[in-house]
Amino acid sequence: MGLEAFLPVALVIGYLLGSIPFGLVLTRLAGTQDIRSIGSGSIGATNVLRTGSKALAAGTLLLDALKGTVAVVIAGYIAGPNAAMVAGLGAFLGHLFPVWLKFKGGKGVAVYIGILLGLFWPGMVVFCLIWLATAFTTRYSSLSALVAAFVTPMFLWWFGHLALAALTALLTLLTFYAHRENIKRLQTGKESRIGQKA
Ligand code: G3P
Repeated sequence: MGLEAFLPVALVIGYLLGSIPFGLVLTRLAGTQDIRSIGSGSIGATNVLRTGSKALAAGTLLLDALKGTVAVVIAGYIAGPNAAMVAGLGAFLGHLFPVWLKFKGGKGVAVYIGILLGLFWPGMVVFCLIWLATAFTTRYSSLSALVAAFVTPMFLWWFGHLALAALTALLTLLTFYAHRENIKRLQTGKESRIGQKA
């Protein structure tokens, strides 16, 4: 199989990995309420934190990030950097739109971080620093994600990583789409802050 022919396979492998809903799996194993029925209804770490368990939230963050990293590392090992990026996109789509949950998944932030770790770790450092700075200042997880996702492609473009800048620009568009309800709540002052149950 030529390297180009592997790209659709990389997309599917990435999608299948990304579609594993770790937030839902961990909270089910822990016997807590269905994560989709509390808070924002998202299966991501921020919403898992609303169960009151920091350990479950940290586990969700770590595993959701890792599925992005594993997808790009496996595809990159088999067929090179283009396949790695395609697998990363697949993992992101799988997380946001998992076929197993009627296409209603998470918002992609942990997976975005994991993809960056697998492709270009300084990009991940930039993303995380911006996220942390915004979170410490505002206590809004969603706003922190939006600001970090907005800046990261520009950083990558500025430093000449054009392919990665294009990929992350696409991830950022999807991140904004996934956060559309959060954006409305931020505009109306109804967004809950990190750790708040509502
Ligand atoms: O990482 C997801 C975060 O940006 C928003 O999560 O549950 O508050 O919609 P949530």
